[in-house]
Amino acid sequence: MATLAIDLDGVSKSYGNKLVVDGLSFTVAAGECFGLLGPNGAGKSTITRMLLGMTPPDSGKITVLGMPVPARARLARGRIGVVPQFDNLDLEFTVRENLLVFGRYFGMTTRAVKAVIPSLLEFARLESKADARVSALSGGMKRRLTLARALINDPQLLVMDEPTTGLDPHARHLIWERLRNLLAQGKTIILTTHFMEEAERLCNRLCVLEGGRIIAEGRPHALIEEQIGCQVLEIYGGNPHELSEMIKPHVQRSEVSGETLFCYAPDPEQVRVQLHGRAGLRLLQRPPNLEDVFLRLTGREMEK
Ligand SMILES: Nc1ncnc2c1ncn2[C@@H]1O[C@H](COP(=O)(O)OP(=O)(O)O)[C@@H](O)[C@H]1O
Ligand SMILES: [Mg+2]
Repeated sequence: MATLAIDLDGVSKSYGNKLVVDGLSFTVAAGECFGLLGPNGAGKSTITRMLLGMTPPDSGKITVLGMPVPARARLARGRIGVVPQFDNLDLEFTVRENLLVFGRYFGMTTRAVKAVIPSLLEFARLESKADARVSALSGGMKRRLTLARALINDPQLLVMDEPTTGLDPHARHLIWERLRNLLAQGKTIILTTHFMEEAERLCNRLCVLEGGRIIAEGRPHALIEEQIGCQVLEIYGGNPHELSEMIKPHVQRSEVSGETLFCYAPDPEQVRVQLHGRAGLRLLQRPPNLEDVFLRLTGREMEK
């Protein structure tokens, strides 16, 4: 039997009279990368804080690395690396000092922390910034430092809340590569993300949350097949509502988002034939992806 790194069983949490996590259950096996997806306010950060024992659940059972949380959270935290949604670095300290202080917090000797600092700086590509004050770093550099800091205690489990939000595409690709290496070393990762590409690339399994409940769960490719299962045509350059009526007989489903019409078409050629000769139309045909799944489940419209 595979060991479980995380076991949530019927966990609920309310703030005031607002139910934020609603009888949630899921497990994460050791060595897996599990994604929590969902619109803002879905409860993702609350779940990650509950896993760390920072927010007590109202009911249900949480076990992390075999330890009951929050009861044994302190012990569990010694084997967890944490990337909170918002950086909480010491701005007045240098990069190196931040790592030293954090290592000491885990009870490491100065010598032991100093021994791992070079590899952490390399991980974050911050070698040249070791003695710079954190206040002088860019947002992306701070995020990379937070990620490196999470590894200081050589954790078995990484709990990451939007690890790459605010990073530029280069830094994001660097972090993805680093996280894949950590997975190859056998670490377990649970992460929340707004980047569907991130979830698709990294996660073995994921769940989509809405209102503190799981609305879909599975392997990324299985979810794409299950929820979409055909080619997607993005059409723009015309009145999307009018175009939607025209192609209706040839698609499984279509959605308008802003000026773009998204068509889910088992035979995209038929749609092309139908629209042939219409001036100014742009058609982009592509395989379905996780973003289509997410938007199908949570709606293409922006919240509020
Ligand atoms: N400490 C808190 N006090 C009151 N409400 C909170 C608190 N933390 C989160 N919430 C509310 O709980 C809901 C879920 O928040 P959160 O877990 O941060 O969602 P997500 O990370 O998915 O965006 C939101 O409606 C948020 O306003
Ligand atoms: Mg959040």
